Parts: sequence; C-alpha cells; structure tokens
Amino acid sequence: MKPVKVGVLGLGTVGGGTVNVLKRNAEEIARRAGREIIITRASAKDLNKQRICDTKHISLTTNPLDIINDPEIDIVLELIGGAGPVKDMVLQAIANGKHVVTANKSLIALHGNEIFAKASKQGVIVAFEAAVAGGIPIIKAIREGLSGNQIQWLAGIINGTGNFILTEMRDKGRDFYDVLAEAQALGYAEADPTFDVEGIDAGHKLTILASIAFGIPLQFDKVYTEGISQITRIDVEYAEQLGYRIKHLGIARKTDTGIELRVHPTLIPERRLIANVDGVMNAIVVKGDAVGPTLYYGAGAGAEPTASAVVADVIDVVRALTSDPENRVPHLAFQADALADIAVLPPEKFKTAYYLRLHAEDKPGVLADVTKILANHQISIEAIIQKESFGDETAIPIIMLTQTTLEQEMNAAIAEIEALKTVTGKVNRIRLETLR
Ligand code: HSE
Repeated sequence: MKPVKVGVLGLGTVGGGTVNVLKRNAEEIARRAGREIIITRASAKDLNKQRICDTKHISLTTNPLDIINDPEIDIVLELIGGAGPVKDMVLQAIANGKHVVTANKSLIALHGNEIFAKASKQGVIVAFEAAVAGGIPIIKAIREGLSGNQIQWLAGIINGTGNFILTEMRDKGRDFYDVLAEAQALGYAEADPTFDVEGIDAGHKLTILASIAFGIPLQFDKVYTEGISQITRIDVEYAEQLGYRIKHLGIARKTDTGIELRVHPTLIPERRLIANVDGVMNAIVVKGDAVGPTLYYGAGAGAEPTASAVVADVIDVVRALTSDPENRVPHLAFQADALADIAVLPPEKFKTAYYLRLHAEDKPGVLADVTKILANHQISIEAIIQKESFGDETAIPIIMLTQTTLEQEMNAAIAEIEALKTVTGKVNRIRLETLR
C-alpha cells in the first residue's frame, strides 16, 4: 500500500519530538498502522534555527499554506500552538479534505465546536490526544476505554509547571517566583506563564476533558479558574500538618443540579496517590459509575512524551482512513447530535469543603464568634488549630477545615468573619476535596 504522507506545521519542541519519534519507530509504527507513515513536508518560522530533529528528506518551507494546500499531503500535524492564525490554518486543512492532528489545547477548548462540526461535514478526523496531559492517553481512556460508564467526576493535575512550582515550594521551601523562573528556563511553561499559574492552561484542558466525559459542548468560558500565585509557604506547611497536600487541580463533577467546572488550588489528603504526584508530572483521577476511581499518570509536557500522543493519533487516523466517516469514534466521544445541554454551575453553587486561615486577636470569645458565624451558615467544622503568634504580632493564626458546604454560604460567612473587629485582614480560603 502507498505510504501515508504527513506534513508538519511547526518544528519546535513538539514538532521536533514528533519527527524524531516517527522516524525512530518507523518500522514498528508501520506494523501497527498497516502502512508506512512518512513526513514529507514541514514548516517553521525560521529555517536556519537549530532543531532537536533531523530534517533530512523533509521538504521545508516557512509558509504553512504550502503544506495545507499540497494535494499530496494526507494528514496535517498542527504543532504550532496558540489559538490565533492557527485556527484558520486548521479550517483550511479541513476544507482541503485533510485529516488534522493537533496538540493545541487552546484551539480545541476555544474553537473545537466549530472545528469538529466542519471536520464532520468534510468527513475528516481532527485528533487531539496531545492537547491534554501530554503523553498520558487520557482522551482515549475516557472516550473509548470508559465508554460504558457514566462518568461522575474527574480531577487532575493537568499543568506541569504549576505542579512543579507547588512541589518545589513544599519540598525545598522555595519562593513562588524563584521556581517559576526555573520552570520557564526549563521550557515547561507556556509562552505566557500566567496561563500556567492562573489556571488558564489547565482550564483549556479541563474544558476538553469535561466535554468528552459528560457529552457536553466545549465551553471554556464557563470554567472557574483560580491560580496558585496566592498560595504561601505557610499554607503549604499548615496543610501538611493537617495531613493534606495543596495541588492545583482541574475538577469536573456532574451533580444533580448541573456540572461543576473548576480549576483552583485544592487541599487533598496526602494518602491519595494523586497527592504524591510531584514535579512536572501530570495525573488524572476519573471516577466512573461502573469502574470506580481510575488513575492515569505520566509526563504532561516535553518533546517526546507529547510526540507519543501525536504519533498515536496519526496511527489512529491511518487506521481509520478507509472507514466510513459516519462510523468513526466521534470527536467528542458522544455522537455530535447527542451532546447534552447540561447547565454548568456558577461558582456560588459549587459544593466543596474548605481550609480557612485567619488572624484574630488572642482573647476570650474570639473563636466562639467565628464558629458561630460558620454555624449560622450551616457550615460544620472538621478540624481546628490555633497557632502561637510569630514575633511581636498580636493576632494569632487560626486554621480550620470545614465539611462540604455550598460556596455561597462560605462566601457570606467569610464576609461576616472579615467584618469582625477582632479579625485582622482577609480570610485565606483554599478549597478541599477528599476525592473519595
Ligand atoms: N505549560 C504546560 C504545562 C505544557 O506546564 O503543563 C503542557 O501543556
């Protein structure tokens, strides 16, 4: 059979890694795919730049359209990233009848509904395993491996940079900005690192996971995101003393009233496997009604881990080339006409437990005032510790863990606590999930 011809847009970290993996494992890949897969063309902004891959036998261009409009190319790999001009490139490739494989999470999270609709009309596949959690085959696991289940919730460490920062803060007592600078130097961070630390990158990935888990359209604009820049070493230490780790989690949960989509720092019990996922590694727990909790762990970024996912998608596309488009695995796991319009809940309707840290005057009755406010809002306290004051501060830290409550009750309680004359400054609140 004729080899399948692939064109690569972008020869950076992921593009370079993909060229290397496809070349190195060519023989094994052909045995799996049933056909030889060769990269014949690639585009890059600067052709003189030093690369991590060998581009011998690949025709290079600076213009991605040369590849997109080349009738010889069967599959286009979009490995440029970002949601700007790349969207038009992908739509053009689809219009030209080409299958597309992308590692681009923002593109899929923001424009996936439109892209998949156009791809389905053209009978082509747009595959995106590499867009979420790098080398972990989490899309395939949820879309295919767990397709007999009703997915109840999923929770994941889906940004390696953020996890690296929190791990270094905890293990080495390092400061936030110091670790962020190292993550940038090591090439883990996004071009704009606020995407990592403010939860945008994780929000993109969560949007995709929630869609394929619950059969809902992609809706990034409804994801609640909170970053890790407010997490202090003190909170990391108190959490540890209480038997918890702070992780930046993406959480999607189906409740009776709607779906929670949220990214925020979260205390989780240190005995959970996912609490022990450190450094740049990613992990996702997916709870299905039949299978129970399942855990997926691996490298969430990097040249070859991400290439592993890209190449797997290419092989899937090659295997499906001769199949009837109507009978392929749907892009978003559920049939396109069966996507459900389930409400995504606003943050006030989230149900979660909390870690609270506040500073109060060290005198009788202060703690009683605080606990009374919580009780008035039906918030039950799970644990409480009061610390001695540091230095000559008159206010002492009080740390509390609460049971699960409605977020709007917690918002109201915090406002009342902050208004107490005996309480200084803001209440620091971090959500807590037991992940049972
Ligand atoms: N900046 C991302 C991360 C890269 O740190 O996880 C992979 O999407």
